[in-house]
Amino acid sequence: MTHTPLVLSGMQPTNTLHLGNYLGALKNWVRMQEEMPCLFCVVDMHAITADAGYGKPAELAQSIREVTAAYIAAGVDPKRTPIFNQGQVPEHAELAWVFNCVARLGWLDRMTQFKEKSGKHKERASVGLYTYPVLMAADILVYRATHVPVGEDQKQHLELARDIAAKFNNDFGAPDFFPQPEPVITGTATRVMSLRDGTKKMSKSDESDASRINLTDDAETIASKIKRAKTDPLPLPASKDELKDRPEAENLLNIYAALAEQDRDAVIAQFAGQQFSGFKTALADLTVARLEPINKEMRRLLGDPGEIDNILRSGASRARAIATPIMDEVKKRVGFIS
Ligand code: TRP
Repeated sequence: MTHTPLVLSGMQPTNTLHLGNYLGALKNWVRMQEEMPCLFCVVDMHAITADAGYGKPAELAQSIREVTAAYIAAGVDPKRTPIFNQGQVPEHAELAWVFNCVARLGWLDRMTQFKEKSGKHKERASVGLYTYPVLMAADILVYRATHVPVGEDQKQHLELARDIAAKFNNDFGAPDFFPQPEPVITGTATRVMSLRDGTKKMSKSDESDASRINLTDDAETIASKIKRAKTDPLPLPASKDELKDRPEAENLLNIYAALAEQDRDAVIAQFAGQQFSGFKTALADLTVARLEPINKEMRRLLGDPGEIDNILRSGASRARAIATPIMDEVKKRVGFIS
Protein backbone atom coordinates (compact mmCIF):
# COMPACT_ATOMS: atom_id res chain seq x y z
CA MET A 1 0.00 0.00 0.00
CA THR A 2 1.29 3.43 -0.76
CA HIS A 3 0.35 6.13 1.65
CA THR A 4 -1.29 9.36 0.57
CA PRO A 5 1.26 12.17 0.66
CA LEU A 6 0.85 14.36 3.73
CA VAL A 7 3.27 16.88 5.18
CA LEU A 8 3.60 17.45 8.92
CA SER A 9 5.95 19.75 10.77
CA GLY A 10 6.12 21.67 13.99
CA MET A 11 8.09 24.21 15.98
CA GLN A 12 8.56 24.60 19.68
CA PRO A 13 6.97 27.58 21.36
CA THR A 14 10.00 28.74 23.29
CA ASN A 15 11.00 32.39 22.90
CA THR A 16 10.27 34.20 19.70
CA LEU A 17 11.02 33.03 16.20
CA HIS A 18 13.80 34.60 14.17
CA LEU A 19 15.03 35.09 10.62
CA GLY A 20 16.59 31.61 10.59
CA ASN A 21 13.22 30.02 11.35
CA TYR A 22 11.64 32.08 8.58
CA LEU A 23 14.20 31.45 5.83
CA GLY A 24 15.10 27.93 6.94
CA ALA A 25 11.62 26.59 7.65
CA LEU A 26 8.52 28.76 7.37
CA LYS A 27 9.22 29.93 3.83
CA ASN A 28 9.41 26.29 2.75
CA TRP A 29 6.23 25.39 4.56
CA VAL A 30 4.40 28.12 2.71
CA ARG A 31 5.63 26.71 -0.58
CA MET A 32 4.82 23.11 0.38
CA GLN A 33 1.18 24.05 0.94
CA GLU A 34 0.95 24.48 -2.83
CA GLU A 35 2.30 21.01 -3.47
CA MET A 36 0.74 18.69 -0.90
CA PRO A 37 -1.78 18.69 1.93
CA CYS A 38 -0.04 19.89 5.09
CA LEU A 39 -0.51 19.99 8.84
CA PHE A 40 1.52 22.40 10.96
CA CYS A 41 1.55 22.20 14.72
CA VAL A 42 2.97 24.12 17.61
CA VAL A 43 4.65 21.53 19.81
CA ASP A 44 3.82 22.76 23.29
CA MET A 45 4.24 19.30 24.82
CA HIS A 46 7.82 19.27 23.60
CA ALA A 47 8.34 22.74 25.04
CA ILE A 48 7.88 21.54 28.63
CA THR A 49 10.64 18.92 28.33
CA ALA A 50 13.32 21.50 29.20
CA ASP A 51 13.67 24.56 31.43
CA ALA A 52 12.89 27.05 28.66
CA GLY A 53 9.21 26.11 28.66
CA TYR A 54 8.73 24.42 32.00
CA GLY A 55 7.00 26.02 34.97
CA LYS A 56 6.17 29.23 33.11
CA PRO A 57 2.52 28.89 32.13
CA ALA A 58 1.88 32.49 31.11
CA GLU A 59 5.02 32.66 28.98
CA LEU A 60 4.28 29.32 27.35
CA ALA A 61 0.74 30.35 26.41
CA GLN A 62 2.07 33.61 24.98
CA SER A 63 4.75 31.76 22.98
CA ILE A 64 2.17 29.36 21.57
CA ARG A 65 0.16 32.34 20.29
CA GLU A 66 3.29 34.02 18.93
CA VAL A 67 4.40 30.97 17.00
CA THR A 68 0.89 30.51 15.65
CA ALA A 69 0.83 34.16 14.58
CA ALA A 70 4.22 33.73 12.90
CA TYR A 71 3.02 30.73 10.88
CA ILE A 72 0.05 32.71 9.62
CA ALA A 73 1.94 35.96 9.07
CA ALA A 74 4.60 34.13 7.07
CA GLY A 75 1.91 32.82 4.74
CA VAL A 76 0.57 29.52 6.05
CA ASP A 77 -3.12 29.74 5.24
CA PRO A 78 -5.17 28.39 8.17
CA LYS A 79 -8.20 27.95 5.92
CA ARG A 80 -6.34 25.52 3.77
CA THR A 81 -3.86 24.06 6.25
CA PRO A 82 -4.81 23.10 9.79
CA ILE A 83 -2.62 24.97 12.30
CA PHE A 84 -2.95 23.56 15.78
CA ASN A 85 -1.40 23.02 19.10
CA GLN A 86 -0.09 19.55 19.89
CA GLY A 87 -1.57 19.59 23.41
CA GLN A 88 -5.06 20.15 22.00
CA VAL A 89 -4.96 16.84 20.13
CA PRO A 90 -4.77 14.14 22.83
CA GLU A 91 -4.00 11.41 20.28
CA HIS A 92 -0.37 12.62 20.14
CA ALA A 93 0.12 11.68 23.80
CA GLU A 94 -1.83 8.44 23.45
CA LEU A 95 0.23 7.22 20.53
CA ALA A 96 3.43 8.41 22.20
CA TRP A 97 2.73 6.03 25.10
CA VAL A 98 2.30 3.07 22.77
CA PHE A 99 5.49 4.12 20.98
CA ASN A 100 7.34 4.33 24.30
CA CYS A 101 6.68 0.62 24.51
CA VAL A 102 7.73 0.00 20.90
CA ALA A 103 11.01 1.94 21.02
CA ARG A 104 13.99 0.31 22.71
CA LEU A 105 16.21 1.98 25.30
CA GLY A 106 19.22 1.28 23.11
CA TRP A 107 17.68 3.31 20.28
CA LEU A 108 17.08 6.32 22.50
CA ASP A 109 20.51 6.04 24.07
CA ARG A 110 21.95 6.85 20.66
CA MET A 111 20.12 10.17 20.25
CA THR A 112 22.78 12.86 19.99
CA GLN A 113 20.40 15.75 20.67
CA PHE A 114 19.53 14.33 24.10
CA LYS A 115 23.23 14.06 24.90
CA GLU A 116 23.78 17.68 23.87
CA LYS A 117 20.74 19.03 25.65
CA SER A 118 21.19 17.08 28.86
CA GLY A 119 24.88 17.97 29.02
CA LYS A 120 27.02 16.71 31.88
CA HIS A 121 24.13 16.08 34.22
CA LYS A 122 22.05 13.54 32.40
CA GLU A 123 20.46 12.32 35.61
CA ARG A 124 18.91 15.74 36.15
CA ALA A 125 17.26 15.92 32.73
CA SER A 126 13.52 15.25 32.63
CA VAL A 127 12.31 11.87 31.47
CA GLY A 128 10.29 13.86 28.92
CA LEU A 129 13.48 15.21 27.37
CA TYR A 130 14.75 11.66 26.99
CA THR A 131 11.60 10.41 25.33
CA TYR A 132 11.14 13.60 23.26
CA PRO A 133 11.93 11.83 19.95
CA VAL A 134 9.25 9.22 20.67
CA LEU A 135 6.64 11.96 21.03
CA MET A 136 7.95 13.45 17.80
CA ALA A 137 7.43 10.09 16.05
CA ALA A 138 3.85 10.08 17.38
CA ASP A 139 3.28 13.65 16.09
CA ILE A 140 4.09 12.45 12.60
CA LEU A 141 2.62 8.97 12.55
CA VAL A 142 -0.66 9.74 14.28
CA TYR A 143 -1.59 11.30 10.91
CA ARG A 144 0.39 8.80 8.84
CA ALA A 145 2.33 11.79 7.51
CA THR A 146 4.79 10.91 4.75
CA HIS A 147 6.92 14.07 4.45
CA VAL A 148 8.48 15.97 7.30
CA PRO A 149 10.28 19.24 6.64
CA VAL A 150 12.96 19.57 9.32
CA GLY A 151 16.45 20.92 9.80
CA GLU A 152 19.53 18.75 9.51
CA ASP A 153 19.65 18.39 13.31
CA GLN A 154 16.37 16.46 13.29
CA LYS A 155 17.44 13.77 10.83
CA GLN A 156 18.28 11.28 13.53
CA HIS A 157 14.87 11.77 15.12
CA LEU A 158 13.26 11.01 11.76
CA GLU A 159 15.28 7.81 11.49
CA LEU A 160 13.98 6.83 14.89
CA ALA A 161 10.41 7.52 13.73
CA ARG A 162 11.00 5.21 10.78
CA ASP A 163 12.35 2.48 13.06
CA ILE A 164 9.38 2.82 15.40
CA ALA A 165 6.96 2.66 12.45
CA ALA A 166 8.64 -0.46 11.08
CA LYS A 167 8.72 -2.20 14.45
CA PHE A 168 5.08 -1.40 15.16
CA ASN A 169 4.07 -2.68 11.72
CA ASN A 170 6.06 -5.82 12.30
CA ASP A 171 5.06 -6.54 15.90
CA PHE A 172 1.36 -5.88 15.39
CA GLY A 173 0.97 -7.75 12.13
CA ALA A 174 0.21 -4.71 10.01
CA PRO A 175 2.87 -4.53 7.27
CA ASP A 176 1.82 -1.17 5.84
CA PHE A 177 0.04 0.33 8.77
CA PHE A 178 2.41 3.23 9.28
CA PRO A 179 4.36 4.80 6.41
CA GLN A 180 8.11 5.42 6.50
CA PRO A 181 8.13 9.20 6.86
CA GLU A 182 10.73 10.99 4.76
CA PRO A 183 12.65 13.97 6.06
CA VAL A 184 12.58 16.95 3.74
CA ILE A 185 15.74 18.70 4.82
CA THR A 186 15.15 22.41 4.75
CA GLY A 187 17.47 25.23 5.58
CA THR A 188 20.68 23.82 4.11
CA ALA A 189 20.71 26.29 1.23
CA THR A 190 19.89 29.11 3.62
CA ARG A 191 21.55 28.20 6.86
CA VAL A 192 21.23 31.43 8.72
CA MET A 193 24.09 32.00 11.14
CA SER A 194 24.49 34.28 14.16
CA LEU A 195 25.16 37.94 13.40
CA ARG A 196 27.84 37.89 16.10
CA ASP A 197 29.62 34.71 15.01
CA GLY A 198 29.33 33.35 11.48
CA THR A 199 30.25 29.83 12.59
CA LYS A 200 27.27 29.44 14.95
CA LYS A 201 23.65 28.94 13.92
CA MET A 202 21.26 31.84 14.52
CA SER A 203 19.48 30.59 17.60
CA LYS A 204 16.70 31.58 19.92
CA SER A 205 18.75 30.35 22.85
CA ASP A 206 21.79 32.57 22.17
CA GLU A 207 22.05 34.95 25.12
CA SER A 208 22.93 37.88 22.83
CA ASP A 209 19.77 39.31 21.26
CA ALA A 210 22.00 41.14 18.77
CA SER A 211 22.95 37.74 17.33
CA ARG A 212 19.54 37.25 15.74
CA ILE A 213 16.75 39.10 13.99
CA ASN A 214 13.48 38.24 15.67
CA LEU A 215 10.31 38.20 13.63
CA THR A 216 8.91 40.61 16.22
CA ASP A 217 11.74 43.17 15.85
CA ASP A 218 10.70 46.55 14.48
CA ALA A 219 12.38 48.20 11.49
CA GLU A 220 14.77 50.25 13.59
CA THR A 221 15.96 47.27 15.61
CA ILE A 222 16.47 45.20 12.47
CA ALA A 223 18.53 47.93 10.81
CA SER A 224 20.67 48.49 13.88
CA LYS A 225 21.35 44.76 14.36
CA ILE A 226 22.46 44.44 10.74
CA LYS A 227 24.66 47.52 10.94
CA ARG A 228 26.32 46.11 14.05
CA ALA A 229 26.69 42.61 12.58
CA LYS A 230 30.21 41.23 12.79
CA THR A 231 32.24 41.43 9.56
CA ASP A 232 35.90 41.27 8.61
CA PRO A 233 38.18 44.08 7.43
CA LEU A 234 38.23 43.09 3.74
CA PRO A 235 35.86 44.46 1.12
CA LEU A 236 33.16 42.13 -0.21
CA PRO A 237 34.52 39.27 -2.31
CA ALA A 238 34.35 39.04 -6.08
CA SER A 239 33.78 35.28 -6.18
CA LYS A 240 32.52 32.51 -3.97
CA ASP A 241 36.03 31.06 -3.62
CA GLU A 242 37.03 34.19 -1.77
CA LEU A 243 34.35 33.45 0.82
CA LYS A 244 36.46 30.68 2.26
CA ASP A 245 37.23 31.41 5.93
CA ARG A 246 34.99 34.46 5.85
CA PRO A 247 31.92 33.05 7.61
CA GLU A 248 30.40 36.43 8.49
CA ALA A 249 30.63 37.73 4.91
CA GLU A 250 29.20 34.46 3.66
CA ASN A 251 26.30 34.58 6.10
CA LEU A 252 25.29 38.13 5.20
CA LEU A 253 25.48 37.38 1.48
CA ASN A 254 23.41 34.22 1.99
CA ILE A 255 20.78 36.15 3.88
CA TYR A 256 20.65 38.76 1.13
CA ALA A 257 20.30 36.11 -1.58
CA ALA A 258 17.56 34.25 0.30
CA LEU A 259 15.55 37.40 1.02
CA ALA A 260 15.97 38.74 -2.52
CA GLU A 261 15.28 35.26 -3.94
CA GLN A 262 18.38 35.64 -6.06
CA ASP A 263 21.18 33.33 -6.87
CA ARG A 264 24.09 33.82 -4.48
CA ASP A 265 26.57 34.27 -7.32
CA ALA A 266 24.46 37.09 -8.69
CA VAL A 267 24.50 38.80 -5.29
CA ILE A 268 28.28 38.36 -5.01
CA ALA A 269 28.70 39.91 -8.46
CA GLN A 270 26.45 42.81 -7.52
CA PHE A 271 28.45 43.79 -4.42
CA ALA A 272 31.94 42.64 -5.47
CA GLY A 273 34.71 44.83 -4.07
CA GLN A 274 32.35 47.11 -2.14
CA GLN A 275 32.68 48.04 1.52
CA PHE A 276 30.46 46.36 4.08
CA SER A 277 28.87 49.64 5.12
CA GLY A 278 27.05 50.13 1.82
CA PHE A 279 26.12 46.47 1.55
CA LYS A 280 24.75 46.48 5.08
CA THR A 281 22.49 49.41 4.24
CA ALA A 282 21.12 47.50 1.25
CA LEU A 283 20.71 44.36 3.37
CA ALA A 284 18.98 46.27 6.17
CA ASP A 285 16.54 47.82 3.68
CA LEU A 286 15.79 44.47 2.11
CA THR A 287 15.34 42.71 5.46
CA VAL A 288 13.01 45.40 6.72
CA ALA A 289 11.02 45.31 3.45
CA ARG A 290 10.59 41.53 3.70
CA LEU A 291 9.95 41.25 7.42
CA GLU A 292 7.82 44.33 7.96
CA PRO A 293 4.62 42.85 6.50
CA ILE A 294 5.16 39.69 8.57
CA ASN A 295 5.85 41.74 11.66
CA LYS A 296 2.73 43.87 11.14
CA GLU A 297 0.50 40.88 10.58
CA MET A 298 1.92 39.17 13.67
CA ARG A 299 1.17 42.23 15.76
CA ARG A 300 -2.33 42.49 14.35
CA LEU A 301 -3.01 38.85 15.18
CA LEU A 302 -1.49 39.09 18.64
CA GLY A 303 -3.74 42.06 19.32
CA ASP A 304 -6.66 39.66 19.10
CA PRO A 305 -5.65 36.51 21.00
CA GLY A 306 -9.24 35.27 20.75
CA GLU A 307 -8.87 35.00 16.99
CA ILE A 308 -5.65 33.00 17.36
CA ASP A 309 -7.28 30.67 19.88
CA ASN A 310 -10.17 30.11 17.46
CA ILE A 311 -7.78 29.25 14.66
CA LEU A 312 -5.98 26.77 16.93
CA ARG A 313 -9.23 25.23 18.09
CA SER A 314 -10.52 24.75 14.59
CA GLY A 315 -7.13 23.42 13.43
CA ALA A 316 -7.14 20.95 16.32
CA SER A 317 -10.58 19.65 15.47
CA ARG A 318 -9.59 19.14 11.83
CA ALA A 319 -6.40 17.40 12.91
CA ARG A 320 -8.33 15.17 15.32
CA ALA A 321 -10.66 14.10 12.54
CA ILE A 322 -7.60 12.56 10.85
CA ALA A 323 -5.94 11.21 14.00
CA THR A 324 -8.93 9.59 15.73
CA PRO A 325 -9.62 6.76 13.26
CA ILE A 326 -5.89 5.98 13.06
CA MET A 327 -5.60 5.89 16.85
CA ASP A 328 -8.72 3.70 17.09
CA GLU A 329 -7.06 1.25 14.75
CA VAL A 330 -3.84 1.34 16.81
CA LYS A 331 -5.80 0.51 19.97
CA LYS A 332 -7.51 -2.38 18.25
CA ARG A 333 -4.21 -3.75 16.96
CA VAL A 334 -2.57 -3.43 20.37
CA GLY A 335 -5.50 -5.18 22.03
CA PHE A 336 -7.02 -2.34 24.03
CA ILE A 337 -10.80 -2.62 24.40
CA SER A 338 -12.60 0.51 23.26
N1 TRP B 1 11.96 18.42 17.31
C1 TRP B 1 11.59 19.40 16.31
C2 TRP B 1 12.59 20.56 16.34
O1 TRP B 1 13.09 20.89 17.39
C3 TRP B 1 10.20 19.93 16.54
C4 TRP B 1 9.18 18.87 16.31
C5 TRP B 1 8.42 18.22 17.24
C6 TRP B 1 8.81 18.35 15.04
N2 TRP B 1 7.59 17.35 16.63
C7 TRP B 1 7.79 17.40 15.29
C8 TRP B 1 9.24 18.63 13.74
C9 TRP B 1 7.23 16.68 14.26
C10 TRP B 1 8.66 17.90 12.71
C11 TRP B 1 7.66 16.94 12.96
O2 TRP B 1 12.83 21.15 15.32
